[in-house]
Amino acid sequence: MFDARAFVEEQVEALRAAVQGRAIIACSGGVDSTTATVLASRALGDRLLAVYVDTGLMRKGETGDVEETLRGLGVNHRIVDAAEEYFRALSGVTDPEKKRHIIGNKFIELFEREAASFGADTLVQGTIAPDWIESGGQLRDRIKSHHNVAGLPAVMKLKLVEPLRDLYKDEVRQVARALGVRVAERQPFPGPALAVRVLGEVMPERVAVVRDACAIVEEEIEAAARAGSMKLPWQYFAVLLPVQSVGVHGDVRVYGHTVAVRSIESVDGMSGTYSRIPHEVLDRISVRITNEVRGVNRVVYDVSNKPPATIEWE
Ligand code: XMP
Repeated sequence: MFDARAFVEEQVEALRAAVQGRAIIACSGGVDSTTATVLASRALGDRLLAVYVDTGLMRKGETGDVEETLRGLGVNHRIVDAAEEYFRALSGVTDPEKKRHIIGNKFIELFEREAASFGADTLVQGTIAPDWIESGGQLRDRIKSHHNVAGLPAVMKLKLVEPLRDLYKDEVRQVARALGVRVAERQPFPGPALAVRVLGEVMPERVAVVRDACAIVEEEIEAAARAGSMKLPWQYFAVLLPVQSVGVHGDVRVYGHTVAVRSIESVDGMSGTYSRIPHEVLDRISVRITNEVRGVNRVVYDVSNKPPATIEWE
């Protein structure tokens, strides 16, 4: 039986022995990175800096939630507001691979800057067992360049410490509970965030549209799952398409945005089938998006499986 309390004590000792100077960690707000952050903070106190980069591409409420969690747990942290910098770097870019590279490189640049100003010589990462076991033959990496903080240590020449390296997800959750960490466990979310759900140029107004539409998809699907009318899918979100179409609003002709709703059943994200969502749920999503999200007059449902489609549209 895995003993989470004993694990915490053991790792606090190990971290103190491994880190003489200062350490830095990138905290995304997910379970793994938050658990590693709190564990390392318990061992190192103010010798640890947790950095959360607000790219301006995050989901609704995400940055505020992370800040509240870190503050509540007494972790020394910095929220880097980099939205303007990201939008500037992405201006005029429509190619999905270019977007991914710009976002990944910008992250490394910002993180390096923070590490240098804090004087860190060690990088703590929340890598867990499946992350490195699966990194043998990642098919998906040949299809899209995944943005991941796994590339950081090589670039930064910092000493790497990975306290959760031998744990599986359920054990990480036990450690999180033992540390008093409460992270709302959300569905998988890509590193390049909402940028890959805005097809075409990534601009603040377009990100705002997809952010609101994603929140509605999440709310309605989660409510339907709670009510027992469907199972919670593996992943469910909205995508803003780079097309406009004609509609009517009152008796006025409008030329508005189109949003695609994507919902996928999968075990590991490597393959998947589209969710057979009840039509009443799709209907509520459609009505809410067209009523509540400015400029959207059409909602379509994506009925493609993976393969041949991928889960995200970019
Ligand atoms: P695709 O779109 O390739 O996505 O079928 C498979 C799963 O991976 C997520 N995804 C990413 N995760 N960094 C990540 O950590 C990324 O760059 C990235 N791109 C896609 C996607 O949301 C799905 O769960």
